Amino acid sequence: MRTGAILTALLVAAPALAITIDAEAYKSPAVTQAGAGLYAEHCASCHGARLEGQTDWQLRDPDGYLPAPPHDETGHTWHHPTLQLFEITKYGTEQVVGGGYKSNMAGFGSLLSDDEILSILAFIKSTWPRQIIDHHDRLDAAYGNR
Ligand code: HEC
Repeated sequence: MRTGAILTALLVAAPALAITIDAEAYKSPAVTQAGAGLYAEHCASCHGARLEGQTDWQLRDPDGYLPAPPHDETGHTWHHPTLQLFEITKYGTEQVVGGGYKSNMAGFGSLLSDDEILSILAFIKSTWPRQIIDHHDRLDAAYGNR
């Protein structure tokens, strides 16, 4: 979708990050349990307790803001490599997209450590069906770490 294309185009120019993505993290019960707790605390109020997102999440409101998309397989979280999801979560969509883009997805960089953000993303990934996990593994392998 259009937002995805904009994000992909702009993220190429994003500053380098010193994180390493563990491709196996979603298989670790310790990591995903920690991530699930943090998700419930910080993310579920908008993205849904069952990762279902907000109603009519593809439609902007009259002020131009998008509702929170689902993080389950019906959304487009899995269309983005882990590094992009990390950048969105840490810095917020307005900063990542730039150009005056308006978004209610604020950055969590002052509330959550890099490892905590990665554990939430690992938890989200652990809920996806096998073929979506496989697709996402291939995306991550192509996009890599920075
Ligand atoms: C106040 C509501 C709110 C909270 C809380 C929130 N989000 Fe969001 N999130 C949004 C909205 C709204 C969007 C869509 C932003 C846009 O495209 O303008 C979004 C988008 C995203 C995206 C991009 C998804 C995609 O498919 O493009 C990711 C990743 C994300 N959020 C992760 C998180 C995580 C992880 C947390 C918890 C740490 C969180 N969000 C908490 C509202 C929220």
